[in-house]
Amino acid sequence: MNNIKYIQDSKVDETLNKKLIALLSICFLKDPVFQYRRYCKEMPQHRWYIEENNIIVAHLALHEKKINTENGEFPIGGVAEVCVHPDYRGKGSVKKMLVKTHNWLKENKFPFSMLFGEKEIYSSSGYSPVKNEIKYFDDKTEKWIIEINRHAMKNVLGSILWSEDLININGPMF
Ligand SMILES: CC(C)(COP(=O)(O)OP(=O)(O)OC[C@H]1O[C@@H](n2cnc3c(N)ncnc32)[C@H](O)[C@@H]1OP(=O)(O)O)[C@@H](O)C(=O)NCCC(=O)NCCS
Repeated sequence: MNNIKYIQDSKVDETLNKKLIALLSICFLKDPVFQYRRYCKEMPQHRWYIEENNIIVAHLALHEKKINTENGEFPIGGVAEVCVHPDYRGKGSVKKMLVKTHNWLKENKFPFSMLFGEKEIYSSSGYSPVKNEIKYFDDKTEKWIIEINRHAMKNVLGSILWSEDLININGPMF
């Protein structure tokens, strides 16, 4: 697990930017934004990645977010842009990067992490489906939407219980 690197996004230089775009554009072919930039809707604050032979072969991004629930406001880590180069898949890189990410979140007192993805990929890293309604900003229609999202998953990292009511993620999905 020692080959996993961490960087604050604000420290990403042009060389690393190009390497990130190279991986993201291969892995997210349907998302044209990754052909020219390293984020989808909002720039994340943190990244974990694995580099081999001078190319980035695995990556995940983390957004620092705040959610509002019936129990109050909580900081959460929003995991995004999880991807592994096609030649390097099936080696457990996602789980390994998530261990590092969760450790960072716990050290920094984030009670939850959330992501939008498939349960087959994230269940083994502690994620379970979010059954709550989620309020989010839809950047296409520029409207706030409230709905249940079948891809939403959460990981409870501390002792605070997950609220079962409406979750406002205060922005777009990540
Ligand atoms: C999804 C992706 C990151 C998985 O990479 P990987 O190297 O195969 O992942 P890992 O080896 O760490 O596997 C993590 C888990 O996902 C499962 N998994 C991986 N690919 C899967 C697939 N296509 N279908 C179902 N489960 C899958 C693995 O079996 C493993 O589960 P386990 O821990 O219960 O055994 C990679 O296929 C990818 O980059 N895809 C394109 C981008 C993408 O869709 N990213 C996800 C956005 S939410």
